Amino acid sequence: MKKKVLLMGKSGSGKTSMRSIIFANFIARDTRRLGATIDVEHSHVRFLGNLVLNLWDCGGQEAFMENYFASQRENIFRSVEVMIYVFDVESREFEKDLHYYQTCLEAIMQNSPQAQIFCLIHKMDLVPEEQREQLYSQRSEELRTLSKPLQCRCYATSIWDETLYKAWSSIVYALIPNVRLLEENLRQFGDIIDADEVLLFERATFLVISHCQQKQHRDPHRFEKISNIIKQFKLSCSKVAAAFQSMHVQNRAFGAFIDQFTANTYVMVVVSDTHVCPALTMLNIRNARKHFE
Ligand code: GTP
Repeated sequence: MKKKVLLMGKSGSGKTSMRSIIFANFIARDTRRLGATIDVEHSHVRFLGNLVLNLWDCGGQEAFMENYFASQRENIFRSVEVMIYVFDVESREFEKDLHYYQTCLEAIMQNSPQAQIFCLIHKMDLVPEEQREQLYSQRSEELRTLSKPLQCRCYATSIWDETLYKAWSSIVYALIPNVRLLEENLRQFGDIIDADEVLLFERATFLVISHCQQKQHRDPHRFEKISNIIKQFKLSCSKVAAAFQSMHVQNRAFGAFIDQFTANTYVMVVVSDTHVCPALTMLNIRNARKHFE
């Protein structure tokens, strides 16, 4: 099952950087060496076994953009499932960015009216921390209004922290078929083994694709933090030619188990009932695998 994903935004806004970090194991520092994308770069990413993300990274230099809207219009904008528009938050030409965004929306409405739209207000690390929230709400409000009658979902992102994982988890979540069934199965599994929380990660990217929560938790950013931390850890393992397979963290309050689950996923189970023996939870994870394959 192939899903076409368009990555749009002006040159230098950070499209290739985020694609390389999420799907090609780059670390943030390495993206400084990326050159400008010439025309469109296509990549196919296998995701969860039979889902193939067909990423169209569209170089953002003006000459290319004009070309997408004129001679390549149908080719670029037809059969799109998701369009991601990346805005450089520091751009001095915000009006021009908006103009290009709107032109993209018009082309999407004509050629792929069902497409889902995501706007990433990117490079947030360059904005002083105390101004981020206000700037983000102002920009996202403006984008939502401008996008009408289409709906866009906005995220504040940076390659230098976990916000990138949050945005991309939502993007891939929007593309996964049968996601409700997956969630229901995960909820049942969590119930049976008495877990506080169960998270399902896609194996290669470590993006959270589903979760079930049985107990409230005060940190709403914990999913993307875990994705980021484990992905960095996996990359460090591969540098010393070790393959990351599983992890068990135990303290007095809870136990957290991360383990390979199905062929394309990892699972994380958090158990706070310290009477449950860790070996039992690990056995339960192993036994549940076949139900999720
Ligand atoms: P084109 O290919 O010309 O369309 O550009 P692009 O949108 O693909 O930009 P690219 O990913 O090549 O990034 C341009 C520069 O922005 C690189 O030097 C990145 O390191 C930098 N960059 C990307 N994301 C971030 C971010 O979140 N914060 C900061 N500070 N810099 C970033």
